[in-house]
Formats: sequence, C-alpha cells, structure tokens
Amino acid sequence: MIRGHGGNIYALAESLGCPVDAIIDMSSNVNPLGPPPGLMDHLQNHMNLIRALPEVDADAAVRRFAEHFDIPVNQVLAGNGTTQLIYALPRALETRLALIVGPTYADYHDGCRQNQADSAYWLTREGDDFQPDFKAMESLLTPCDAVYICNPNNPTGVLVEGDVLRRLSRKFPNKTFVVDESYLPFVAPPEQWSLMTKRPDNVVVLHSMSKIFRIPGLRIGFMVGDPALIERMQSFSLPWSVNSLALEAVQYLLAPNEGIDRFVDDTRRMLNDEKEAMTRRLSGIPGIRLFPSATGFFLVRLPDPHRSQEVCRQLAQKKILVRDCANFTGLSDRFIRISLQTRAMNKKCTTALEALLST
Ligand SMILES: Cc1ncc(COP(=O)(O)O)c(C=O)c1O
Repeated sequence: MIRGHGGNIYALAESLGCPVDAIIDMSSNVNPLGPPPGLMDHLQNHMNLIRALPEVDADAAVRRFAEHFDIPVNQVLAGNGTTQLIYALPRALETRLALIVGPTYADYHDGCRQNQADSAYWLTREGDDFQPDFKAMESLLTPCDAVYICNPNNPTGVLVEGDVLRRLSRKFPNKTFVVDESYLPFVAPPEQWSLMTKRPDNVVVLHSMSKIFRIPGLRIGFMVGDPALIERMQSFSLPWSVNSLALEAVQYLLAPNEGIDRFVDDTRRMLNDEKEAMTRRLSGIPGIRLFPSATGFFLVRLPDPHRSQEVCRQLAQKKILVRDCANFTGLSDRFIRISLQTRAMNKKCTTALEALLST
C-alpha cells in the first residue's frame, strides 16, 4: 500500500510553497545525525559506478554483511530495502495465514495481501504500555503459518528480549517467525537483543540499512534466514535489484571502521538525551501520555479533546511533520508518533505542542 506510510515531506513542501529542506521531518524514523561521516564523499568518489550494471545478485554486499555479523553467507539475502523482502516473503513462504503482532508497521499486512495471503492482527494493549504478553497469543497460533514481530516495534518503541522470542519460536517449530530488527541498531548493545545470533531455524530476521545510517533513498536492506528459504527468495528476486551506489555504501558502512562505530554510539547517546529532555517537557502537558520507547521515536496519546489530524495539520503549518497514527490498526486518532531530530528541532516541536495542547 504505497500510501500507508508516514507524512509526505514533498507534498507538504509543495502545499506550503517552501523547499523540502525547510520542513522539520519528525515523521520519518531515520537517524538525525546521519548519514555517517565520509559516506557522501565516498559515494561521490564512486559515481562512475552507475555507468555499469551493479552485481546481479549483490553478492559482495551479502558477503560483507555476513562477515560483519559473523553469519554464514548462505543465510543472507540483500534486497531493495527490507521492503522488497517484506513483499516477497509471503510468496516464498507460501503463507496462508499470518499473525501480526500489532499495532505495527502496515507493510507486513500489505505484503501478505499482495501475495493473496490472509493476515490477522493480535493487538497489544495501551493499558499494558503495548508490551506483548505472548502467553495470551499462543492459543491463536494454531491456524497460522507465519508470525510477524517488529523488535523494537514501530510505532510503539517496545523492545522484547531476544530470549523471549527464541523460546516462543522454538515452541512452534512449524511456523515461521519474521522478526523485523530494522530499529535494533538504535539500541545498545544490539547483539544482546538480536536474533541474528543463536537464530532458531524457523526465524527470519530483517535488517534495514535505511534507518541507522539515514540512507533510505539508497534502498538497501538484508534478511537472515534458513539457506533453503534464502534460495527460494533468490528465485523470486529481480536481477540488479540493489543499485551500484547502495552496494558501494554497504562496503563503506560495514567494513571495520572506528569512525562508523563512534557515529552509532554518538547516535544512541544523543537520542537518549533528547528523548529524556523532550519527554520531560511534554509530560508537563495536562492529560498527555508518552509511551516508553527503546528507539529514537516515541508514541504520544493526545490529551482530550485533541485529535491527531488537527494536531498534525497545525504542526504542518509550522513546517513540522509528525506521524498521524490514525491509520495504524490498533491505534486511533488519539495518537501521534514523534521521531527525534536535532536539539533545536526537538525544542521547536516541543514548544509548538505545548502551545497547541495546553489549551
Ligand atoms: C519497521 C520497519 N521495517 C521496515 C521498513 C522498511 O525500510 P527499508 O525498506 O527502507 O529497509 C520500515 C520503514 O519505515 C519500517 O518502519
């Protein structure tokens, strides 16, 4: 569903008659500090790559990823963003019915629908801070052949321990668990939470490069899974689906590089500080509810009588774009999601929200 995502900076810039760069985009969950130092120069120095076809199957990037995460190379596949993989998985898995732990990213549902697979949501509750109680979910698993879990979850920011997911997936060896770890690099240390290590055979892990490195326009993501599934996915892949610059970016970003490691550490530190500062100030608004998040975005329940569409519209007039969560199954027009940006931008958004919501 091409229109099922967050705010559109291009449409807003056009309607306000301003350049896209003038919009403070707090609707998109990408690293405010990115891209990492040196990447732009590196890509500019490699522009001549676009004069030839990229590697047909992204083989060198797959090897680089496998080496970086210490995973056998036959368990890794590259895609045109994790999006390509999300939309191909139901076909490769021959999914008939998927259970999606929600509220969450809509593309799991849309990927199933595009492949004529049914899907149903199992919704966590606001009263539990959207923490999943998987025991309560287990009885619903019988008719399902695939389960989707986003960890940490978009848009709630909830993070589940890797061992909880390992135990759950081992208990249901005949079902495939698709665990989307696109936002896990924002959590320290991700190895402690990731299912890429000690991965049960029936677990597929998705890993986006778009978020932590702020390269969503390059379109590159990976999946880690059983070799037989990787082979099946390959048989459905389009040739050259990852472009030359994206492949070159992988070589730069995943080679041993202290500068990149420092950049990721700085990101985590900065986002934690900003989250603390912004949530401290926003908590002063009567009736507001802020949900704890492991990532650089967080969910907000608006105080009565405010509704998301009007709040987003008023912020947009001030050139601030946040995510209206009304179209997430399991949420409503009472919720918005804010992705942290730089200190100055966060302050501007906080001040605007205080003015809007304190009335
Ligand atoms: C949870 C989640 N997974 C996957 C994606 C897709 O990212 P990409 O295709 O850029 O890797 C997104 C994008 O917003 C997302 O929020």
